[in-house]
Amino acid sequence: MTQIKNIGIFTSGGDAPGMNAAIRAVVRSATYYDLEVTGIRRGYEGMINGEFFAMDRKSVSNIIQRGGTILKTARSEQFKTPEGRKLAYDQLKTHNVDALVAIGGDGTFTGARIFGQEYDMPIVGLPGTIDNDLIGTDFTIGYDTAINTVIDAVDKIRDTAESHDRVFIVEVMGRDSGLIALRTGIASGAEAILIPETKTDINNLCDRLEHSRKDKLSKIVIVAEGEDAGGAFEIGRQVKERFPHYDTRISILGHIQRGGRPSCMDRVLASRVGVAAVEALRDGHRNEMIGIIHNEISYTPFEHAIKHHIEINPNFLKLVEILSI
Ligand code: F6P
Repeated sequence: MTQIKNIGIFTSGGDAPGMNAAIRAVVRSATYYDLEVTGIRRGYEGMINGEFFAMDRKSVSNIIQRGGTILKTARSEQFKTPEGRKLAYDQLKTHNVDALVAIGGDGTFTGARIFGQEYDMPIVGLPGTIDNDLIGTDFTIGYDTAINTVIDAVDKIRDTAESHDRVFIVEVMGRDSGLIALRTGIASGAEAILIPETKTDINNLCDRLEHSRKDKLSKIVIVAEGEDAGGAFEIGRQVKERFPHYDTRISILGHIQRGGRPSCMDRVLASRVGVAAVEALRDGHRNEMIGIIHNEISYTPFEHAIKHHIEINPNFLKLVEILSI
């Protein structure tokens, strides 16, 4: 068993609802196991700049229901350099931090993987991103809340679409991943879903819009921001060109998808993996992301968690085709 006394905790990359619940779980479980916790503000950037402070069980009172991250977050260019990582390591040593819990996504674990190889610093990660694009967990913290925010918004857009017989192209987040679009498209009854993992074919989209129910004039298309045809405005332009008689509108949901109170599912996921992270560090785990697969805690090496080969289940796309007739 590794003798760890002081765990540093930080959030990095895009914020996600449920990050606070994860911070709370780490702080409370560390306290339960008689360990000290040092909060690090603004991710790797704050680590380099020495933004450290002591946390105890009271520092995380009344945050389980709050969106965002009380530790703040940032994307750090400096940490991508060996000099930046050396400064970060020196700060950790100065503040007697002897293990780390990193909460974030792909970029966070890319940094953690390199840092864990260069320095003798046990580090484990918690999957915190609305994108759900990590391998080694069925769901990431924030995804459930984000997809529920999207369907609330699309339900409202549908009221206008129906009332005015309009076609709406709705853009959701997901620069590299279509997983938000995929689930929300099914759940909101979209006519079509366009995602980065498949090539966008505007002709095919237009054919589908034309041949889907003729008696139904309002239609919803869900577009992930990273699809390859130029985004919602460009798709909207091409749809208008082919169907000038359609009343076509674009709606970009944007950062409302990242905010808000975390759902029950996200709070429970964050609480479970947060406690598991502290237990994993006590048990000598390092360089792993802690997730949940089939309802069991799982440990995935960083280099595997960040591999971009999440397969899109083709049945999901087929579902949209069947259900939108
Ligand atoms: O990774 C989460 C995410 O919300 C992506 O879906 C999106 O592309 C990106 O962050 C947006 O980042 P920013 O807030 O820096 O514009």
